Amino acid sequence: MLEIRNSSGLNGSLTVPGDKSISHRSVMLGAIAEGDTVVRGFLKSADCLSTIRCFRKLGVRIEEKENDSDAGGEKNEPLLVIHGAGLRGLRDPGNEILDAGNSGTTVRLLSGILAGQNFVSHITGDSSLRSRPMGRIITPLEYMGVMAASDLGNNCVPLSIFGGKPRGIHYVSRIASAQVKSCVLLAGLYADEPTFYTEPSLSRNHTELMLSAFGGNLKVRKKADEDSVTTILYPGVVLKGQNITVPGDISSAAYFLAAGLLVPGSRVTLKNVGINETRDGILRVIRAMGGDLTVSNIRIEGREPVADLTVSYSELHGTEIGGSLIPTLIDEIPVIAVMAACADGVTVIRDAAELKVKETNRLTAIAEGLSRMGIDVTETGDGMIISGGRMKGATIDPNGDHRIAMAFSIAGLVSRGTTIITDEGCVDVSYPDFYDDLDSLR
Ligand code: S3P
Repeated sequence: MLEIRNSSGLNGSLTVPGDKSISHRSVMLGAIAEGDTVVRGFLKSADCLSTIRCFRKLGVRIEEKENDSDAGGEKNEPLLVIHGAGLRGLRDPGNEILDAGNSGTTVRLLSGILAGQNFVSHITGDSSLRSRPMGRIITPLEYMGVMAASDLGNNCVPLSIFGGKPRGIHYVSRIASAQVKSCVLLAGLYADEPTFYTEPSLSRNHTELMLSAFGGNLKVRKKADEDSVTTILYPGVVLKGQNITVPGDISSAAYFLAAGLLVPGSRVTLKNVGINETRDGILRVIRAMGGDLTVSNIRIEGREPVADLTVSYSELHGTEIGGSLIPTLIDEIPVIAVMAACADGVTVIRDAAELKVKETNRLTAIAEGLSRMGIDVTETGDGMIISGGRMKGATIDPNGDHRIAMAFSIAGLVSRGTTIITDEGCVDVSYPDFYDDLDSLR
């Protein structure tokens, strides 16, 4: 249990930890590449450690090291070295069950890779993961000719993946989900024919960018007058181990961007943050709400754009968020809702039904939390309507959801009275040092 009180201005700069999505993918692609992959800035959070644990069970050697040369990066910085087993080189884990913990990314991407192995594997996860929808990967894998079965028949984990020879297909997805897209593309690596994946708007494209860096052959097709995007993966390549530098996670930076904007007297710089255009929706929303934001020092690291972000206290106003913007800020909606609660006027969030199937039902968790804090909020079928007002402290049970815990911690900084987060340890899923980093700015 953690108590948070109204804060005076936050000042200073911070380097947020490595991007979660990119960290997962570095292990996964490293595992099925030939040769070694060396990762700088890997996020050592519970979710990414679940991915490491699964690949170790599949016989992949993964070492934590310190950089002992000045040739690249900083001396003594932590490195992760993945000794690639090759596309079909994973080891049959036998009776061992692969435990993805709380991580949807682990189970969905791993399933695509397991679809191409010549053994049967079993994946499970914690109670939250066991209630999240897996029909969205079971269906395309079955179209690809791979049997993926939900052991309890409820389209959730535990899953059994009967690996074999996926077939290249054209899959048209109703949802913009990078996890589903990545599952299909990774399975497509094992096919003889190309795999086409069409999504209603572009979801995060880290798998595509990293696969290309490893030697993968992909193309993206988009008609100028439509949001939908088709990604084509051509198989028959050998992936080659790479040196990867993981940028700071914009989803983690989001909490401090919000804090800097909301707490009077603040000025905060977040260094080295990934600003891939499939992830930068929060920056667009900050501008639309009238926030004082500067993006500086823009550069490309690996294939990912990176920048320093500076925000200062601003009087925000309400905005509308929906359509193809949603996938670019899907994980930031809890903290954007907190910004909306402090803004002048009304904010409408729509097209965000996916939030119901995250680590918790985030639409309900946000709406309940904000109402407890005295804000007028109406949950709709696919979003919410928030009228900005003055927040008062409340007790928030994040129900094991890291992003709800962090978003309401920021709310606590700008509320009258005391806010209690009952289960603050759940931030370990994506940001183990969140509270230390927050303290460092106070
Ligand atoms: C992720 C994709 C998103 C996001 C999740 C990480 C990824 O999920 O919410 O935190 O790494 O591919 P969906 O693909 O289900 O939208």
